[in-house]
Amino acid sequence: MLKLLFIGDIVGRPGRDIVAERLPRLRSEHNLDFIVANAENAAAGAGITGSLAKSILESGVDAITLGDHVWDQRGWENEIGQIEHVCRPANLPASNPGWDHLILEKRGFRLAVFTVLGRTFMGMKAEDPFQCADRMIAQLKGQADAILVEVHAEATSEKQAMGWHLDGRVTAVLGTHTHVPTADACILPKGTAFMCDVGMTGPYASVLGREIQPVIARFLDGMPRRCEVAEGDVRLSGAIVEIAASSANAQKIELLTVRRN
Ligand SMILES: [Fe+2]
Ligand SMILES: [Fe+2]
Repeated sequence: MLKLLFIGDIVGRPGRDIVAERLPRLRSEHNLDFIVANAENAAAGAGITGSLAKSILESGVDAITLGDHVWDQRGWENEIGQIEHVCRPANLPASNPGWDHLILEKRGFRLAVFTVLGRTFMGMKAEDPFQCADRMIAQLKGQADAILVEVHAEATSEKQAMGWHLDGRVTAVLGTHTHVPTADACILPKGTAFMCDVGMTGPYASVLGREIQPVIARFLDGMPRRCEVAEGDVRLSGAIVEIAASSANAQKIELLTVRRN
């Protein structure tokens, strides 16, 4: 049996700090083999930089994934290819820099990881995520023992459809992007672990990680204003998946919430 922790969107310094503080103990307490984290909001809530990616990897994350905020930080497009263990969404145009998947190996077991962006209520130029996932799975055949697919999408319908579409073909289909953990963790009939959103890692006394008042004001008058990363009620949120080494089926999935106190 192998254990995977998939951490939801790391938001700003509060998110980075709780990961750095808690990860070493979480790894040993839960006997985690693989730790994968979405870090699309690591740099002040928008995107990531080379130095932040390195520090997140140094804090114990094995692989970093990204979402629609992938290119928010200027210069990251030149750095992404030089940092191992970081991948960008697989269904972006092929000309985008960066790896479209990663393969991690622990105890002789290979876990492939890739992200697909949803297209419903999403602004990115992305290829059909369903066709992309099919293509990636075919391409990874023989290269990995298990596959984790991150579905970075707004619509729960698109995420659920992806879970059913990939059931039995990958070990887990785990959602990110909406920053709110959902109460639907389950093992689908053919052995794939599924959850619509594993939640964000950052301040929960917020609106999706941002300070509350400017977000309310923006809804009220529609005027643009700075919405800084909030600070209160910082939590690390993710899903722990147990994987049967022989079949690569998921045996168990549960939400992990760690509060900073
Ligand atoms: Fe996010
Ligand atoms: Fe996102």
